[in-house]
Amino acid sequence: MKIRQLAEGVDLLATVDWNRRLFDSLIPLPDGTSYNAYLVRGTDKVALIDTVDPPLWHVLEKQLESVERIDYVICQHAEQDHSGSIPFVLAKYPEARVLTNAKCRDMLIDLLGIAEERFQIVEDGETIDLGGKTLEFIYLPWVHWPETMGTWLQEERILFSCDFLGSHLATTDTFVTDQALTLEAAKRYYAEIMMPFRLPIQRNLTKILAKDIRMVAPSHGPVFDQPGFILEAYQDWSSDAVKNEVVLPYVSMHGSTEKMAFALLDSLVARDVKVHLFDLVVTDIGKLAISLVDAATLVLGSPTVHVGPHPAAHYAANLANAIRPKVRFASLIGSYGWSTRMVEQVAGMLPNLKAEILDPVICKGDPTAETYAQLDQLAAAIAERHASL
Ligand code: FEO
Repeated sequence: MKIRQLAEGVDLLATVDWNRRLFDSLIPLPDGTSYNAYLVRGTDKVALIDTVDPPLWHVLEKQLESVERIDYVICQHAEQDHSGSIPFVLAKYPEARVLTNAKCRDMLIDLLGIAEERFQIVEDGETIDLGGKTLEFIYLPWVHWPETMGTWLQEERILFSCDFLGSHLATTDTFVTDQALTLEAAKRYYAEIMMPFRLPIQRNLTKILAKDIRMVAPSHGPVFDQPGFILEAYQDWSSDAVKNEVVLPYVSMHGSTEKMAFALLDSLVARDVKVHLFDLVVTDIGKLAISLVDAATLVLGSPTVHVGPHPAAHYAANLANAIRPKVRFASLIGSYGWSTRMVEQVAGMLPNLKAEILDPVICKGDPTAETYAQLDQLAAAIAERHASL
């Protein structure tokens, strides 16, 4: 991919990872991703903002062939998909210094073994003048690591936001051309790694919204030349508001729990509650995470396996607990053969959810008329609580 100009003296050096399908050996990437580095050239100094995942260093290396000098490598985030090629850049440009915050420096020393003397620490709000290009550093802790920061190019009003506001999307487009596609990818990314830090996200949004942003240049996905929609989306996703929606992930071994899940769905829909239903055996967990961004309620469906929840339900509960959705209500449905301790075990897996637990519906064997009546009662309880949201 060639170097592309965003503004006079500001270039995008994007490396597109078309075929990557998993991040952190965990997160599905149906649309691939990109790692974006940026070059900012002043009349006196040249800065490279972020680098690239090490397996794709050769792409960035080729883009840098015509770049004779780099004075500063700005590291906004220590995670290796952005920082991992910094040692290669430092070897190529022996005079370059790494500009970052103290916390990030310590992490880069631990993760990449970069020599301490190569660093120059920058404080929150500090500026450096490259010669007609002024870079201001904005600490953005917990989006999604504690050391993350952004960089504000004052003259061009460009915010380099690193993971914040980014999207895992492989594309040859420089700027967003399909807002719906980008929004889905960005929401997936928000759900999977940002949502656990919703309150710091709110604070960081307030911080960047004080700027008159013309362009958001993230370190994944296309650049936002009309940033209003992604900023509004982040405000919505990270707000305290929840929607009249139920997320219903389930797994079923012989069909009993599935019958219960569909009965609950029908009863909720009859009460005008929107339902996102997922069979955990086949679902994309990214879709499940996306649905948890807005929903007011989570109901997990599971059969009993050796008195506990099915391992797939165990995984879903673990995931929900880790990504900390803002659901206000939660419950459990499912069946068992001869004995179960599923309710207390699942409750113990969700300590991070600040949710009211609604009466679970657990039946022995196949659901009976009484089970369906209890599912109706659960649907009624959910609809009643959603009505007062
Ligand atoms: Fe794209 Fe947190 O790294």
